[in-house]
Amino acid sequence: MAHLYSQHLAKQYSLQRNRLRATDKRTFALLKRISIIRKYVLDFGCGDGGYAMQLSRMGARKVVGIDISPTMIKLANRNLKKEQIKNVEFMQADGAQLHFHKNTFDVAFSNFVLHHFQDISAPLNEISRVLKKSGYLLATLNAYKVKSRRFIDAIARSAVPMRLGTGRDSFVVTAFLHTNEDIKSSLIKTGFKVLFYKVVQNPNAAIDSSYHYINQVSYNSLLFLARKM
Ligand SMILES: C[S@@+](CC[C@H](N)C(=O)[O-])C[C@H]1O[C@@H](n2cnc3c(N)ncnc32)[C@H](O)[C@@H]1O
Repeated sequence: MAHLYSQHLAKQYSLQRNRLRATDKRTFALLKRISIIRKYVLDFGCGDGGYAMQLSRMGARKVVGIDISPTMIKLANRNLKKEQIKNVEFMQADGAQLHFHKNTFDVAFSNFVLHHFQDISAPLNEISRVLKKSGYLLATLNAYKVKSRRFIDAIARSAVPMRLGTGRDSFVVTAFLHTNEDIKSSLIKTGFKVLFYKVVQNPNAAIDSSYHYINQVSYNSLLFLARKM
C-alpha cells in the first residue's frame, strides 16, 4: 500500500520527533483537563508510539494506537518493547476505515494526522463512530488561511508541501489544505460539539518554498477539543 510515511520518511520523522514538540504543552494541558485516568484511549495516527506510551503513563486503562504506515507500527512496537508497558497496543489501519466496534473508546487523541486526509470528514466520521457518546476527541493539525478567494478551488485541490524542522535535518511531507472554517463545520457535521478551538503557532513547520500558491496561503496549527454528541 502506498502511503506517506513509508520507510525512509517514517524513520526520519521518528528521529526528529523530539525536536517537533513545540505544540505539546497546550495539548497536554487540555488532556489533563478532560482526564484520561482509567479511560480507553485511541491514538489515531500514532506514528512511532511515543504519545500512546505517554497516555498510558498518564493513567489510561488501555491505549490502542493505529497508523497506516507499517514502518511506523514496527517502530512503535520496537519502542514499546523497550518500555515494557502492558496496556498499549499498536495496529496498522487506515484511519478512514477502522475495524473497531462503534462506541468503543472514551477518548481519541490525534497529533498532526488529520491533514493527511483529503476529505477530513472521512476520519472524523470514523472517530465519531468508535467513540462512546460524550467521548472526547482532542487533536492538533495543520490549518491554513487562504488570502484571496480567487484561487480557492485550485488551492483546495493542491497538496501542500510542508517543511518540518529547521536547518539541515528538515524534511518535506505533503498535507491537504483545510481551513479553520472547513474543519469546524466538518466536526459539527460528523456529530461533535466543539468545546475548545485555538490557532496556535508552530515554529517547527512551514509551507515549503516550492509550493505554487505560497503567497496565497498562510499556515498555522490548530488545536481543538470536541465532544461526541
Ligand atoms: C506527522 S505524523 C504524526 C505521528 C504521531 N501522531 C506524532 O505526533 O508523533 C502523521 C502520521 O499520520 C499517519 N497517517 C497518515 N495517513 C493516515 C491514515 N489514512 N490512517 C492512519 N494514519 C495515517 C502517518 O503514517 C504518520 O505516522
